[in-house]
Amino acid sequence: MLGIIGGSGLYDIQGLKIVEEVEVSTPFGEPSDKYVIAEYKGKKAVFLPRHGKGHKYPPHLINYRANIWGFRKLGVNKILSVSAVGGINPLLKPGDFVLSDNFIDFTKSRVSTFYEGLNSKEDDTGINDQVKEYLKDKRVVHIDVTNPFCPSMRKLLKDICEEKGYRYHFKGCYVATEGPRLETAAEIKMLSLLGGDVVGMTLVPEIILARELNMHFASVNIVTNLAAGISEERLTSDEVIQTMKQKTEDIKKVILEFIEKVPEKLNCSCEEVLKGAAI
Ligand code: HPA
Repeated sequence: MLGIIGGSGLYDIQGLKIVEEVEVSTPFGEPSDKYVIAEYKGKKAVFLPRHGKGHKYPPHLINYRANIWGFRKLGVNKILSVSAVGGINPLLKPGDFVLSDNFIDFTKSRVSTFYEGLNSKEDDTGINDQVKEYLKDKRVVHIDVTNPFCPSMRKLLKDICEEKGYRYHFKGCYVATEGPRLETAAEIKMLSLLGGDVVGMTLVPEIILARELNMHFASVNIVTNLAAGISEERLTSDEVIQTMKQKTEDIKKVILEFIEKVPEKLNCSCEEVLKGAAI
C-alpha cells in the first residue's frame, strides 16, 4: 500500500474518501498525528501530515522513526513524500515541482536509523522479513543510499507532471538542513557550490528510515521561495505557506493520479536494499 506524507501547508487531501483514522503506537513513541486511511478509485492509501495537524512539530522535533514505523505497521511499502523547499538552482522558480534524485545531509541532531545494534528495539509488526530478523539479532546495518529515491516512482511522477503540463524538474539534489532557522546567504552559496539544487529541513532522515524498512520512497518538492541570498527579499514562512496554498490544487491532482496509477509491485531494486547490508 502507498503512504503519503504531507508537508507544510498540506494537512489533508480533499477528493480522497476517508475510510478511517487510526492512532498507531510504536516502540519509538508517538507519530506526528493519526494516520488517515483513504480510498480513491478503488485504491487505498494512508496519509500522515508530517508536522501534525495545526503544524505542531518543527522539523528537528518530528518523530521520524515513529512516523515511518507506523506506516510499516499499517502495511505501507512505498512512500510519496511532499515538501516545501527553497530554490538554490537559478533555473528554479517559485511554484516549480522538483522530483529530487539525490540528497546531501547537513542535519545535526536526528536519529537516522532503526538498527542500533545491542540497543535495537524488537519488531512488533508481525511481519516476517529481514527487518524483523536484523532487529531481533541486534545487527548493525549500513544501507546503500547511492541513489536513494525509487526510480519507478519518480518515472511515474514525471509522467503525471508531463501529462498535466506542470512546470517540473526531473532531477534535483536536495540539501537537508537542520533548521528550524533558515539558511544564511553564505550557507546557500556554499550549498550551491556543493551541487545542491533545493534546500529543505525534512527529507533526512525520513527517506533513510523508509529505505531501512525496505520501502520505496519518492519526493515531490514544491519550490516555495528562492533560497537565502538568491532572493533579494527577506524570507518568511508566510511566503512558504502562500506558495503552497497556490499550488495545493496541482499537488492534490498529482497525488490522486499517483494513487490511481501506482502498481502494487514496482520494477526496481529498492526492496533489495537490506540484502548483505548487516555486519
Ligand atoms: N530553506 C529551508 N527549508 C525550506 C525553505 C528554505 O529556503 N523553503 C521551504 N523550506
